[in-house]
Amino acid sequence: MKINHIVETQQFTQPLLMELFDRANLMKKIVARGGTKDYENKIMTSLFYQQSTRTRFSFESAMYRLGGKVITTEQAAFFSSEITGEHLEDTIQIIANYCDVIVLRHLEAGGAKRAASVSPVPIINAGDGAGGQHPTQGLLDLYTIFSELHTLNGLNVAFVGSLDNGRTARSLAYLLSKFSRIKLYFVAPKEMQIKPDILEHLDENNIIYTLSDSLEGIIDQIDVLYQTRFEVERFPNVNFDYSKLKTDTSVLQKMKYDSIIMHPMPRDIEISHSVDSDKRAAYFRQAKNGLYVRMALLSMLFDGN
Ligand code: CP
Repeated sequence: MKINHIVETQQFTQPLLMELFDRANLMKKIVARGGTKDYENKIMTSLFYQQSTRTRFSFESAMYRLGGKVITTEQAAFFSSEITGEHLEDTIQIIANYCDVIVLRHLEAGGAKRAASVSPVPIINAGDGAGGQHPTQGLLDLYTIFSELHTLNGLNVAFVGSLDNGRTARSLAYLLSKFSRIKLYFVAPKEMQIKPDILEHLDENNIIYTLSDSLEGIIDQIDVLYQTRFEVERFPNVNFDYSKLKTDTSVLQKMKYDSIIMHPMPRDIEISHSVDSDKRAAYFRQAKNGLYVRMALLSMLFDGN
């Protein structure tokens, strides 16, 4: 199946995911030997309307490691012509004249889809709005789970934090639903629980899930603990005990010895720094995998999949 744009994780079939992971493994070897010049004629635009550390730097590094070039603007929301009222669709059609791929982080859920509808070059959704998707994060997350646990079937995965706005959790939930004997636990204050569209999708795919507001009672069953930010600031008047969602050394003691802890980052109070030295803390390895998976995605798009 050929992919022209990367907008949402539903686009990826199991065979395409395995092809992507093989390519990411190859990219890991290419990086170890100093990169390649295979894509030296390619130019990537990184167009970020919101702040980013991992996604932007790893995409830009990925492009340089592939031998290509990067054009960019600091904080597109302030430095591009959008501030003068230019529509996203116009901006994309202009920038597409100057590059071979556009990596877009937009303020609106659906922004990447709008861009893809007019773009003659591939659009890669680097996160769109609150409650949209972040497909390349979902793909690197899935690659991390596969690399660490050597399977994607029969896993119990807990998503924790502000899940309604959680574009990374949403993207990964769609991907996990493609595998068998998966059980998902959504752990969040009720104001921030995962949205019904994801639950409908899981129902359609016969994926078992539970909703709760505490890790208590489930933590010893979990293979993957996927923490996300709490966004406490969104509900200043809600008196919720966030300690029920945090990962600290007392939680580590209850977790399976062969489980992993992930976080798309940036982290705040969700994971105590005392957890970092535990071998189950996979979040820095996860961020590193972002480079390999994004190199793999760029090369797939340039090669016509
Ligand atoms: N995981 C993630 O999207 O991080 P950034 O916001 O730093 O890109």
